[in-house]
Amino acid sequence: MSAKFSSSEVALRTRTRSSRLKFLLILLCLLVSALTVLTTNYYITTTNRTESQRLQYVPLNAQRILQQCAVLKASPGPADDFHSRRVSDRFEPGTNATLIKNAKIWTGLKNGTDVVEADVLLDGGLIKEVGHIPIDIMESTENLTVIEANGAWVTPGIVDLHSHAGLLSAPFTRGTFDVNSPNGPILPWLRSIDGFNTHDEAFELAIAGGVTSAQILPGSGNPIGGQAFMVKLRKTSEHSPTSMIIEPPHMLNGSEPDPDAPLRWRHLKQACGENLKRWGTRMDTMWSFRWAYNEARKVKLAQDTFCAKAEAGLWNDIHGQEFPQDLQWEALVDVLRGRVRISNHCYEAVDLDDIVRLSNEFGFHIASFHHASEAWLVPGVLNRTFGGPPAVAIFATTHRYKRESYRGSEFASSVLSENGIPVVLKSDHPVLKSRYLLYEAQQAHYYGFDSNLALAAVTSAPAHAAGMSHRIGLLHKGADADVVLWDSHPLQLGAAPRQVWIDGIPQLKSPNLPKPDGGGKERQDAPAVPTWDKERKAAVEWEGLPPLGPKKVVKGKVVLKNVREVWMREEHGIKERWAARPGQEGGTVVLESGAVSCVGRNGWCFTGEETDGTVIDLHGGSVGPGLVTMGSPLGIEELASEPSTGDGFLYDPYSGEVPKILSDTAGVVRAADALQFGTRNALHAYRAGVTYAASSLAKSTLFTGPTSFISGLSVTFRTGADHALEHGAIINPVTALHVTLGRPYPYRPALPPVSVSTQIATLRRLLLNAENSDTETGRWFKKAAGGAIPLIVEVHNADMMATLLKLKANIEESRGSRMQLVFSGATEAYLLAKQIAQARVRVLMTSARSFPESWDQRRALPGPPLTNDTALSILIQNGVTVALGVTEAYELPNTRFEAAWAALSSNGRIDKQQTYELITTNVEKVLGIEGWFGEEGDVVLYDGGDVFDLSSKVVAVASPRKGVVEFF
Ligand SMILES: *[C@@H]1O[C@H](CO)[C@@H](O)[C@H](O)[C@H]1NC(C)=O
Ligand SMILES: *[C@@H]1O[C@H](CO)[C@@H](O)[C@H](O)[C@H]1NC(C)=O
Ligand SMILES: *[C@@H]1O[C@H](CO)[C@@H](O)[C@H](O)[C@H]1NC(C)=O
Ligand SMILES: *[C@@H]1O[C@H](CO)[C@@H](O)[C@H](O)[C@H]1NC(C)=O
Repeated sequence: MSAKFSSSEVALRTRTRSSRLKFLLILLCLLVSALTVLTTNYYITTTNRTESQRLQYVPLNAQRILQQCAVLKASPGPADDFHSRRVSDRFEPGTNATLIKNAKIWTGLKNGTDVVEADVLLDGGLIKEVGHIPIDIMESTENLTVIEANGAWVTPGIVDLHSHAGLLSAPFTRGTFDVNSPNGPILPWLRSIDGFNTHDEAFELAIAGGVTSAQILPGSGNPIGGQAFMVKLRKTSEHSPTSMIIEPPHMLNGSEPDPDAPLRWRHLKQACGENLKRWGTRMDTMWSFRWAYNEARKVKLAQDTFCAKAEAGLWNDIHGQEFPQDLQWEALVDVLRGRVRISNHCYEAVDLDDIVRLSNEFGFHIASFHHASEAWLVPGVLNRTFGGPPAVAIFATTHRYKRESYRGSEFASSVLSENGIPVVLKSDHPVLKSRYLLYEAQQAHYYGFDSNLALAAVTSAPAHAAGMSHRIGLLHKGADADVVLWDSHPLQLGAAPRQVWIDGIPQLKSPNLPKPDGGGKERQDAPAVPTWDKERKAAVEWEGLPPLGPKKVVKGKVVLKNVREVWMREEHGIKERWAARPGQEGGTVVLESGAVSCVGRNGWCFTGEETDGTVIDLHGGSVGPGLVTMGSPLGIEELASEPSTGDGFLYDPYSGEVPKILSDTAGVVRAADALQFGTRNALHAYRAGVTYAASSLAKSTLFTGPTSFISGLSVTFRTGADHALEHGAIINPVTALHVTLGRPYPYRPALPPVSVSTQIATLRRLLLNAENSDTETGRWFKKAAGGAIPLIVEVHNADMMATLLKLKANIEESRGSRMQLVFSGATEAYLLAKQIAQARVRVLMTSARSFPESWDQRRALPGPPLTNDTALSILIQNGVTVALGVTEAYELPNTRFEAAWAALSSNGRIDKQQTYELITTNVEKVLGIEGWFGEEGDVVLYDGGDVFDLSSKVVAVASPRKGVVEFF
């Protein structure tokens, strides 16, 4: 295929599409290289040279080879004139221009501190202008839609750097599980886009939270899990995965890299640590990386050598060879050439250090470490990453779910950024729901992360980490028109979009629903948040495990000054006992032996503070009852994914034969027997004002669903107690009987799924007194049927609830009883709100923010801005007794914010008292312990605001039963 130099014209003439200029350049190039060869040869081999050594046989595809070699030198990123483009490549014809007028615009520029009060013009899929738009531009823009923002906040669309949307589509089905390949540890040739389902309900929901683009990552089940892609979440006119990709990398859609234009970034997922145990140990993981990168290095070296020859015109040396390439290793070769943004799942110091060493051994950069629970403890390690420190993509408060995340901290973001490490907050959707990514920023801000950086962490920082900041994550001229108009300051709890634009296309069908005023003027500013300097310092000092017990315990009198609100438990609920009127100064509360002895305005109580009291200024804070929680396995396990910290396998007739020694068909056992005190989750809960918890033995995981049908008897306990024998530690050792109903989870491993009809038949039989009441099963189901103990049924699906309501009526009729039936989880309960209220069934919702995770939850009501109502507001308005819990123990400190969220998204339909009841007395009603605490109940002291405010912080818990006030 090679030809003599003189006949290389033939090769050149065969080109079809090259421009005349290119032709001349290449001709010149070939001439120069040939001359170089000739002269060099001449000087080196003066004595022994022959014609054949001198003459180079230039192959017919020389031009293509030289082009391939030239591309090796190109680097990724936008062209210099990128921002002067006039129309976006993503523009959908027929999209009208939009002017958002009089907005408060957070641009993301200047480190997130740039805020301008101006207008934004979107046209051609681009941001055409940020600033004051001249009238003539407005007049000359055809079909301009004008939106009056009235001073509301505008930000760039939110960017989720870590999502599995489309790979684990909701509702989960076996047919859409495309996240981890079982085919080996090293799989750089896989591409997430190949499994990307466009019908995931998560897209529309995420957009409703202001999320406009996401990096779709393969799972973390492989050290190299495959290539990732940045997508926009909107539906495209083509309805295809490919059309959702932002800047599809070359070769993916048949386009070839142009050596004269910048390359497009590629993306890759790597992982290390615990999730890879299926392939061996951490040592095996690291060897698999080194082996793979060495293979890639060989290919790279072969390419470089080949190209050095070609570029030097030494064609004879590469005679008959093709450009060295290997489809399996090409992605890693591109990593070594600095063209791939790697997202590396990596939690602990040991893993981070391993990967940083790897990056230096092979000379490649890591764009972002994900999860990275210990990154904040080892900024020096991150600094040593080849090419500079990566961004660190973390959760705000989701920690302690596995051993690797045990040292995760709510202070990680501020510590990392103080060490010069860019912080990204991410969802890991569907682990956290992408829709609520902004909530991560709100929480990080609450724990002391600067507001500019908290917003950057969900916009510009992920865009930078993905190499996409020229298009997304920032608002400036020439960027993609991905914009959100908010109903309140985006760092306020419950902030929701009034409208979301992606590529200039409005996404919400009913914009401005509801909360058009953002729920008040004060919600238009970032919330003032507490200071956490001492807590953060201790967290660093103790490497993530600071002591969590009280710092000071006061037995005597405590006088609280400057209190604006006092709420107390009363006989049938909770009441505001006292509140300062607007403009009035705060009041006084006196506590004696941990009990409230006087409440009133200043001067009302005799405080005796001059002589013996501890005086505390609550800075406009509040006093209220300790919160009660149900729904998480608090105290039953410490780390959800670490069996060695939990109770172990729970027998029930469907999950494994109940051992004969129990002599009990259903193996009903008691959570009280497994309860652990002093877990970090319990202490975190206690410090956040959640002083009582009920836990059952029911266990459910995101992907495999519930692990048992009958999960025994729950226990109610005090979260701050040291051990079970402490006075008042156990409130009720046998609280309720628990059953879980549901359709089989699609990813449930070996166990045969038990049919819904079998589950209900079993329940019917047990409640109709079929088991001998000498056995635990017979005894407790008899009590449940007779109403002596609540029967808490975890059930999400409305059809199953309807069946249960009929079953309840039958049983009550046949036994003349009145059951205490509770639906927990209850995603679809709102569909039967009237009937549930009539049947006096109580409901424990385990999330204020429903998501259609399973088929049973597919009718989850999304709430504003997609629907007017929320499931909670419908239930409450229909008179159902509803409590609100959480599903994971590490979520407990957020209990009060979850309740606040429920109220904020109810458009005023849930008032403050009802909100408080959701997490106090209504939980007691659900648990059948209403009125048990009375005057003995714990009281929580909030500094700087009320229970639902992001400005407040729990400073102490007062316990009349213990006779003390415990300060943190
Ligand atoms: C951005 O802000 C952080 C913290 O507020 C600061 O540490 C950093 O130096 C700032 N960077 C620039 C470029 O101003
Ligand atoms: C304006 O809207 C009309 C009617 O939909 C359409 O025919 C026309 O092409 C639009 N003009 C532009 C510039 O989009
Ligand atoms: C664009 O604007 C024109 C004129 O106002 C209107 O007729 C058309 O429906 C708009 N198109 C869209 C997609 O909103
Ligand atoms: C890491 O580098 C940053 C920026 O140079 C510096 O501020 C920080 O102190 C370094 N941290 C450590 C632990 O070396």
